[in-house]
Amino acid sequence: MNKNTDYVALEKKYVFGTWRQQRSWNPLLIEEAAGCYFTDINGKKYLDFSSQLMCSNLGHKSPKVINTLSKQANKLCYIAPSFATIPAAKLGEKLAAITPGDLQKTFFSLGGAEANEAAIKIARMYTGKTKLISRYRSYHGATSGAISLTGDPRTHYAVGIPGIIRAPDCYCYRCPLGKEYPNCDISCAEYIDEIIKMEGKQNIAGIVVEPIVGSNGILVPPKEYIPRLREICDERELLLIDDEVMTGFGRTGTWFCIEHWNVVPDIMSMAKGLTGAFIPLGATIVKKKIADFFDEEGNLFCHGHTYSTHALCCAVALTAIQEYIDNNLIEHVKQVGVTLGKRLHELKEEHKSIGEVRGKGFFWGVELVKNQTTKEPFVTRSQKFLPNTLKKISAASIEKGVYIVNVINTLIIAPPLIADMEQIDEGIRVLGEVLKIADKECM
Ligand SMILES: Cc1ncc(COP(=O)(O)O)c(C=O)c1O
Repeated sequence: MNKNTDYVALEKKYVFGTWRQQRSWNPLLIEEAAGCYFTDINGKKYLDFSSQLMCSNLGHKSPKVINTLSKQANKLCYIAPSFATIPAAKLGEKLAAITPGDLQKTFFSLGGAEANEAAIKIARMYTGKTKLISRYRSYHGATSGAISLTGDPRTHYAVGIPGIIRAPDCYCYRCPLGKEYPNCDISCAEYIDEIIKMEGKQNIAGIVVEPIVGSNGILVPPKEYIPRLREICDERELLLIDDEVMTGFGRTGTWFCIEHWNVVPDIMSMAKGLTGAFIPLGATIVKKKIADFFDEEGNLFCHGHTYSTHALCCAVALTAIQEYIDNNLIEHVKQVGVTLGKRLHELKEEHKSIGEVRGKGFFWGVELVKNQTTKEPFVTRSQKFLPNTLKKISAASIEKGVYIVNVINTLIIAPPLIADMEQIDEGIRVLGEVLKIADKECM
């Protein structure tokens, strides 16, 4: 037995693999990672073309982050959230500065799901209303409240919270309302207005959306959609809750994705790129009016975790944000992202299995079809956890040294924001090779 099989077998025996059949899980044993690459126990190097779970925005092994970790660990790792710390104070101030509009005050947790749990609770405490609108093709996290917002197949077995209403998706390639943009009058948004009328605005706290849907296929809304949701929220006195867990921190070429449409949400949740995934941290930032509400006598902020406002995590997030700034990464993504999109559209010309290419910045989806005319997908929602063609493509790609995440029927191309053209070309070349697997299965 070599080193590799030992530890994989050990992990399989004692540690759960996430979101999968346990027995068929056959992970690579990874030992090291640096820049845009990670390396397995046998020394084979892989290009990270999806930033792991679309979270390693700064790549791997940042010397500045390592320095912060060691300096802060030598000073103070953890103190109860009832105390103040310099990293938490500075990070709160920094987030208020880089987020749009008057988003001001932050609650810190340890990841995206917790950030959304806080968003749900804050929205309910602030409005005194309980219902929330989310969408079918969405993912907001695995915990009880967040999985209730979620509409994707991972809701399987979830014991959720009551009061969640699902709205139709903004998915122009397969419009759930059978319309075609731009002649649709953004009916998917208008239908949300209808839902509000029927459910009663007096019962609904807010609408929760990923500004570009991530792990349900990189669904980019048309330019009118998010501004229309903002209008509906204002007209009906609901909160707009923006889940930027995957899209935040430069991923789409702006600090936060919602800035593409000049919209300011009432609550924004974040995680992943907040620390560059070097260390866990989640955050829920709210507008001044919500912050002020909790300053009023009697309005208790009734929420918290042992690890809220963790000093070590806050210090790393500050360094990560400084890295985005010092390396001009938002501008880099904006510029190089155009070429990345162009390369992917060129691939579409060459591969009959590509149905649609969509995205922004370093956040792209390649949706595959068996037939470009009928748009028949390779993988349906109910086949997500079964062996399928997209999983075969990701496996072939890793075999060739490039890691590409697949989600239901879409491949996610989301390299670390530090990736240069050479690395992008390397990933695109391998993607082109492995797409031949799907081409052969086309009708
Ligand atoms: C948009 C979105 N929200 C929330 C989450 C949950 O984050 P976490 O896995 O850190 O709990 C994810 C995770 O992928 C996500 O993509």
